[in-house]
Amino acid sequence: MTRATGASTSLLITDVRLYGEGDPVDVRVVDGDIAEIGTGLAGADETVDGGGGVLLPGFVDLHTHLREPGREDTETIETGSAAAALGGYTAVFAMANTDPVADTAVLTDHVWRRGQAVGLVDVHPVGAVTVGLQGTQLAELGAMADGDAHVKMFSDDGKCVHDPLLMRRALEYARGLGVLIAQHAEEPRLTVGAIAHEGPNAARLGLAGWPRSAEESIVARDAILARDAGGRVHICHASTAGTVELLRWAKAQGIAITAEVTPHHLLLDDSRLATYDAVNKVNPPLREDSDCVALRAALAEGVIDCVATDHAPHAEQEKCCEFAAARPGMLGLQTALSVIAATMVADGALDWRGVARVMSERPAAIVGLPDQGRPIAVGEPANLTVVDPDATWTVDASALASRSANTPFDSMTLPARVVATVLRGRVTAIDGEVRAR
Ligand code: DOR
Ligand code: ZN
Ligand code: ZN
Repeated sequence: MTRATGASTSLLITDVRLYGEGDPVDVRVVDGDIAEIGTGLAGADETVDGGGGVLLPGFVDLHTHLREPGREDTETIETGSAAAALGGYTAVFAMANTDPVADTAVLTDHVWRRGQAVGLVDVHPVGAVTVGLQGTQLAELGAMADGDAHVKMFSDDGKCVHDPLLMRRALEYARGLGVLIAQHAEEPRLTVGAIAHEGPNAARLGLAGWPRSAEESIVARDAILARDAGGRVHICHASTAGTVELLRWAKAQGIAITAEVTPHHLLLDDSRLATYDAVNKVNPPLREDSDCVALRAALAEGVIDCVATDHAPHAEQEKCCEFAAARPGMLGLQTALSVIAATMVADGALDWRGVARVMSERPAAIVGLPDQGRPIAVGEPANLTVVDPDATWTVDASALASRSANTPFDSMTLPARVVATVLRGRVTAIDGEVRAR
């Protein structure tokens, strides 16, 4: 990468514990890279007081919906980038189910360039696997991979690539291109009309059920297809204990399969549906407590590789309506770290080094981002997040940077807060405010 000539810029992050370990240190960043780590450092263009907090590599979200183009009334690349920076993210992957669908290099390159112009977070477009997400004809994966955006991940998310022959071909192409296919695992024949997890709660409430088998049958099938095609498959938003067992089996066979879990599937279960409040409607649906427990254990163990938000903004009229008519999805970018702190750190299932693994290092490695999820060390790119592990805050849906407000965490008091986010040495968010370029 070429650098503008002229005066260098420096940033000092003081009084932080790297990965929450050891004594506090200061970190000097010069021209976007970590230049020095020590104590008593002084003299920089700008100083961020870490306040004794935890320094982590910037978070990477493999699964975000930004709604631009098409539904800019609910989120834009700019508002979603602000939510990401405030949530501690330095890179996000924007799903292809926009309007029009991101199934050509023209679209994916546009998303990439718009994200770079906003400059708060690297917005990597996800390309569609099939034209128009229609599930019938493969999109031009190669053209998208070769474009300015260098698309690294393809997904029809929102829909499942359910035709097994098409999925096989996609995995074969992906192997040749060195890219990843991310699957929204939902056998559509098993979820016709389904709006809630199939179980006692949905039965009592009269909500049509979405069985675990709809997810697990696709996870099993795709693991086997990936085995024979030699391609890499990534399972979006794993939601059931059975999926965990299938992942464990597939990984033990040496199959190139990875998986993510959302913060909401770790914390919330289908008892939330009792109010019929559609803020709790999401796809895949909130499952049972036993699933949450299995998902948390799998994330701690590494059977599930990483956390991804599935940040899915929706307009008020799409959520404040009868349950069956409401759109599925919930916001996630600004609450992810706190929900992980509540579900994983508070009980010791993960320490802060573990949080760095599941929110930064593994997602960056899965998709192959060379400059993200790197060690906090001299010479490394300064993509960093400062966290106050002792803070608590009460989520106010209306105060989030997102253009939508559909968070199930509204009014919850959660632990840990992002103090500052740094992208290539530039502060993008600090003390709850974004810093436009
Ligand atoms: O809940 C969801 N919302 N699941 C998806 O797969 C799609 C997403 C959306 O785009 O709103
Ligand atoms: Zn999905
Ligand atoms: Zn999604």
